[in-house]
Amino acid sequence: MSVTLAPLPYAEDALEPIISAETIRYHYGKHHQGYVNKLNALIEGSEFDEMTLPEIVAQSDGTIFNNAAQAWNHEFYWNCMTPDPIPPSSKMQALIERDFGSFDAFKETFLSKASTLFGSGWCWLELDTTEQMIITQRSNADTPIAHRHKALLCCDVWEHAYYIDYRNERARYLERWFETIDWRFVASNIIEYYHDLTEPCKENSELCDYIDKLQEENEVRT
Ligand SMILES: [Fe+2]
Repeated sequence: MSVTLAPLPYAEDALEPIISAETIRYHYGKHHQGYVNKLNALIEGSEFDEMTLPEIVAQSDGTIFNNAAQAWNHEFYWNCMTPDPIPPSSKMQALIERDFGSFDAFKETFLSKASTLFGSGWCWLELDTTEQMIITQRSNADTPIAHRHKALLCCDVWEHAYYIDYRNERARYLERWFETIDWRFVASNIIEYYHDLTEPCKENSELCDYIDKLQEENEVRT
């Protein structure tokens, strides 16, 4: 079994003018494809050969981890963006307000952390083990899966994500990128977290109060 490159969820020019077709051609066609190819070469005939990509990420280290995590992170990143963005639903907004005070505070913190991450890496919105949403700076290939957190949203801040369109101006890329966020995808990850729980709901879990409404709103909006 080998890891496959998932198709892009939209045409390569669909995010223009924010992300150009040229960026997508290199980023998806060369970088993302490259991680998948390297990973397949590395795991051929190994214990990882029969695992799913998230299983490889969770159980590997070193070069295999780097390529597996980058393959997974990129697939997730493409899904975080949409050519038809709509604002977060009211329950999604409420969750953001619960953990960040306001949507504006969330945006400011996310963009600031993405902007100040030193070197290459990813800025994430993730659900930690206490079911709180947190914003993290993760270097190189690091990913919430490695920390047993649920990934909700990410922004790629490796230079290859923005250099063709924005040169060295990462902050300008981030401001425009924020407009492309697919909030339905963010909500769907919270819903998926809930469905993946081995027990229906943790005792006194606040998050559970949000799930039904979140799911209802997401269905209306897709
Ligand atoms: Fe990338």
